[in-house]
Amino acid sequence: MKDRYADIKKVLLTGEEISKRTTEIAAEITRDYAGEEVLVVAILRGAVMFFAELVKQIDLDVRMDFMAVSSYGASTVSSKEIKINKDLAQPIEGLNVIIVEDIIDTGHTLKSLLRLLWTRNPKSIKVCALLDKPSRREVELEGDYVGFEVPNEFVVGYGLDYNEKYRNLPDVCVLKESVYKNDIPVV
Ligand code: PRP
Repeated sequence: MKDRYADIKKVLLTGEEISKRTTEIAAEITRDYAGEEVLVVAILRGAVMFFAELVKQIDLDVRMDFMAVSSYGASTVSSKEIKINKDLAQPIEGLNVIIVEDIIDTGHTLKSLLRLLWTRNPKSIKVCALLDKPSRREVELEGDYVGFEVPNEFVVGYGLDYNEKYRNLPDVCVLKESVYKNDIPVV
């Protein structure tokens, strides 16, 4: 049987640590939106595990939806646009929207996404991210709910991939450099 940790340098956050932090964030969201309904939106695909754990623990009326986005090929560093591969299934006018991401890296994805969603007249939008890598930020953007700050290392697992692998690891892990050092950078 293949050792699915063979390419892993170290475990950065265990599934248990992630669960504990997710419970805290869900409690914070439950408090912040007391008496209100929320639409929780998972950004496919990286956010799915965190999203599933989180929504189960939000003690409010929760609607769920999903979006898939990718960054446009031709773009400059300062303004990257996103392509919507799958849009929301419903209008968001008047709703409290919580966008759930696995990681905020350069910040371009969320910045573009927020710009788009605000044009649809929601009541509010907040960003909830499991991981934040502030050292990589290229635009001004902060998560409203953030699980963990991570160093500038190649992280995989708990939804995060490298070339579509490792998403199913139950921990957030640092990938061995040897796995990606000869590859063309995937951004
Ligand atoms: C990742 C992640 C965010 C985005 C963050 O998605 O899930 O959506 O990149 O990067 P940024 O802050 O630099 O914009 P990815 O495009 O890898 O898709 P995936 O979730 O399907 O892996």
